[in-house]
Amino acid sequence: MTIPTRDLNDKNSIPALGFGTYKLWGDEGVDAIQSAIDVGYRLLDTALNYDNEKEVAEAMQRSGVPREEFFVTTKLPGRFHGYEETLKGFEESRVNLGLDYIDLYLIHWPMPRLDRFVDSFKAMAKLQAEGLIRSIGVSNFTTVHLDRVINETGITPAVNQIELHPYFPQGPLRSYHDAHGITTQSWTPLARQRSPFKEERVLAVANAHGVTSSQAILRWHIELGSIPIPKSAHRSFQEENAKVFDFKLTPEEIASISSMETGRLWGGDPDTNEEL
Ligand SMILES: NC(=O)c1ccc[n+]([C@@H]2O[C@H](COP(=O)([O-])OP(=O)(O)OC[C@H]3O[C@@H](n4cnc5c(N)ncnc54)[C@H](OP(=O)(O)O)[C@@H]3O)[C@@H](O)[C@H]2O)c1
Repeated sequence: MTIPTRDLNDKNSIPALGFGTYKLWGDEGVDAIQSAIDVGYRLLDTALNYDNEKEVAEAMQRSGVPREEFFVTTKLPGRFHGYEETLKGFEESRVNLGLDYIDLYLIHWPMPRLDRFVDSFKAMAKLQAEGLIRSIGVSNFTTVHLDRVINETGITPAVNQIELHPYFPQGPLRSYHDAHGITTQSWTPLARQRSPFKEERVLAVANAHGVTSSQAILRWHIELGSIPIPKSAHRSFQEENAKVFDFKLTPEEIASISSMETGRLWGGDPDTNEEL
């Protein structure tokens, strides 16, 4: 299966759908990631804090797919915020992944209490200039954090990866992204344990197109202009989730799913959430 690509604001291209790897560990994790690669996923989303960059590296190696076909994302944790610290944290990830360069490097959480995310972003720009990172971005940033990065570095992040699912469509933040040329990525696109699969509005859209609830939701992300990164340990779900490029939702169907909004599900308020 070939997943289409789209352009970022720095002219690099990125797959329009990715594979999340959170909680995929050990041999089982490697098998699940390798299966996703076999299905056709090329965007692999990991983080130093997921403690599975080595599993991602192993799966990539075993797959036999050339390195340049992959789009590997990893993330800087809070304990490495700051200019020099970021250089060190990045190197740890790069070595774990066994790669010469990382396709997309993100600041995992802004952690405004530390007030060091601008310094981290400056260090990421240096690594990008050296060819060690292709695209630089952020995760869980609000418009206030994004304004600071843009104003204080003169660089607009390529991506902001945020909590986004039918219960939290993130309308205002997506509008800001659109106005600034930032690509939105949806983490927990299927809303994980509070599964929206049985919701009437999702089932109505799924039935109208002869697709599953998961496919209806993932297509909704794509119609919103976001890149979903669903995780699944099962090949059948991995295949199902990648088949979302041969149907389109109507504006009414998009609005119907967006109207399920209730708010954040995990209390991960970017102004206060801390992950070291
Ligand atoms: N930047 C951040 O702060 C942040 C935070 C959280 C997550 N993330 C990233 O986002 C990725 C995705 O989020 P997530 O893993 O939390 O949740 P998710 O992708 O919304 O949901 C994953 C869950 O849905 C199940 N599932 C997947 N496809 C399915 C299908 N077609 N039918 C039924 N069930 C299905 C999976 O089951 P099985 O695995 O059992 O198949 C798993 O339990 C993560 O892996 C991670 O890479 C980033």
